[in-house]
Amino acid sequence: AAEILIAPSILSSDFSRLGEEIAAVDRAGADWIHLDVMDGHFVPNITFGPPIVAAVRKASVKFFDAHLMIEPADPYLDAFAEAGCEGITVHAEACRHLDRTLQRIRALGCKAGVALNPATSETAIEHVLDRLDLVLVMTVNPGFGGQSFIPAMLEKVARVRAMIGTRDIRLQVDGGVSPETIGDLARAGADCFVAGSAIYRGGSEAAYRQNIEALRAA
Ligand code: DX5
Ligand code: ZN
Repeated sequence: AAEILIAPSILSSDFSRLGEEIAAVDRAGADWIHLDVMDGHFVPNITFGPPIVAAVRKASVKFFDAHLMIEPADPYLDAFAEAGCEGITVHAEACRHLDRTLQRIRALGCKAGVALNPATSETAIEHVLDRLDLVLVMTVNPGFGGQSFIPAMLEKVARVRAMIGTRDIRLQVDGGVSPETIGDLARAGADCFVAGSAIYRGGSEAAYRQNIEALRAA
């Protein structure tokens, strides 16, 4: 099995000190930095866009993993790549021509990901597996941090893992990931774990380090 990656979601950080909060989880042992972009249209919340990503890019050299909860996504791909995102994940539900969108992400030099809402079947990505570097199985309905994990997603993770087969594709989960849920998710086949509230609770770098270690241990 591939090594496990921990990707703190900055959604749960103190936005007034965003750069410092990213540097803190970087030093505390984060593998990736997960950036939740919301448009108030695809999801019922609004966060930030490319200018903020560009501004905080200098806070860490770790992999910037953008999770675009925006519709449409295509008009903004270039701007997120230019802002310093190294991975761009779009939602299957938000892309009318998913294959084209994924080709564009790779043409921009980024790793290409597709996210699936809890209600979306994994069959939505059968036709694009060879254009993917990452599949994100949402384990909550996207829009907010701090929601409870949806247990029915464990079987979906297992089905996506089987679909991936021997391909070099990361299987990411996002939403309600905590020391209580991460073990089952890993056993089901996930290898990249986004966590917001479970990492940013405590408010200090020492707390973030403990929280990340607790996730790895579980
Ligand atoms: C949800 C976002 C998540 C969120 C996770 O729409 O995509 O990344 O920040 O937060 P927690 O880990 O608190 O569920
Ligand atoms: Zn996310």
